[in-house]
Amino acid sequence: MNGIYFDNAATSFPKPESVAVSVVNYINNIGANPGRSANRRSIEASDIVFECRELLAEKFGLKDPLRAIFTLNATDALNTAILGSISPGDHVITGGMEHNSTMRPLNSLESRGIIELSVIEKRQISTEDLMAVIKHNSKVFILNHASNVTGDVQKTTDLFNLCRKKKIITILDAAQSAGTINIDMHKDNIDILATSGHKGLYGPAGTGAMLINDSYDYETFVPLKTGGTGSSSESFSQPVFLPDRFESGTLNVPGIAGIAAGLQYLKDNFSKDDIITHKNRLREMFLDGCSTIEGFTSYRSGTINTGVVSFNIDGIEPSRLSMLLGDEYEISGRPGLQCAPAAHIRLGTFPAGTMRFSFGLFNTNDEVERAVTAIKKIAKSIR
Ligand SMILES: Cc1ncc(COP(=O)(O)O)c(C=O)c1O
Repeated sequence: MNGIYFDNAATSFPKPESVAVSVVNYINNIGANPGRSANRRSIEASDIVFECRELLAEKFGLKDPLRAIFTLNATDALNTAILGSISPGDHVITGGMEHNSTMRPLNSLESRGIIELSVIEKRQISTEDLMAVIKHNSKVFILNHASNVTGDVQKTTDLFNLCRKKKIITILDAAQSAGTINIDMHKDNIDILATSGHKGLYGPAGTGAMLINDSYDYETFVPLKTGGTGSSSESFSQPVFLPDRFESGTLNVPGIAGIAAGLQYLKDNFSKDDIITHKNRLREMFLDGCSTIEGFTSYRSGTINTGVVSFNIDGIEPSRLSMLLGDEYEISGRPGLQCAPAAHIRLGTFPAGTMRFSFGLFNTNDEVERAVTAIKKIAKSIR
């Protein structure tokens, strides 16, 4: 299937070739369950899994690779982080641009009277904003690092420093930023980081990770799921040690082999700011190209961006625009609310939402030029 893919914020495509090679290699040549038997294949599978933990730890500045926990996706990592770290009566603070994978668990906890919730209804949060909502029982501050709607990146350093001083647990939703923005869990004071494996890390769909800071007392952190781990089988209790405390059941080893290949590809081919520079160059090119279109509005705040642009054209609903782009020009983006109604309320684009393009590693200038031409034609056709 040809066409232009600008939906990398949903999941990245294409993946580096080595990702599929690595997935297939595990399925065809290894196949065994890691950590479940001492046979050669099982050991090889365990090696793949451990190598991926090492790459994750290196990427996000963790010392202990066993603190990299595999999850189904970022949603699973966020639910594990939120539900594992709060107790009844706690106060939780979050931002104004959160994805529903944060808002729904928090809303569910609040509506059942389990937590008190403060939402800082801003696009960029300052330490004064945060200070204003901190209370004696504030336990967790959970923040979306980069909006999946606008690509805007939150400046977390001062906010998380303040949380450290106030003994508030910091959870970073890095679903959109991981792989694009440089993150160091120690320097950035992140207690728990949640990410997808299938977006900026270039692993397959259905992968994710939760990383726990080396200094975080994970024994206070309750696992969301319990079950077989291949370890301590004599006991009816979940093992306390990592990663088993948070990983029950057979791991998605093909997916993990894929994340490892994705991470290795990034490590081998790009230095520090290459990826964000590439994505933003395409984004700027797109915005420049569209700047003369009558009725074109983009939602940008001028801060650091992950290469995502949300836009509207007067007189056409985002869903219709998306359909025309797909049917007539083979361009895939994502219309609507992108699972982030809170962000759209902030932007004033609720409930219709926006059309979103999210650029990836493999998008080219030519694709952006073709998209600008397509949008110009659509805009002209509705005048
Ligand atoms: C900011 C943000 N958080 C969380 C998620 C959930 O990611 P996943 O699909 O891996 O669960 C997304 C997905 O788009 C996202 O953009």
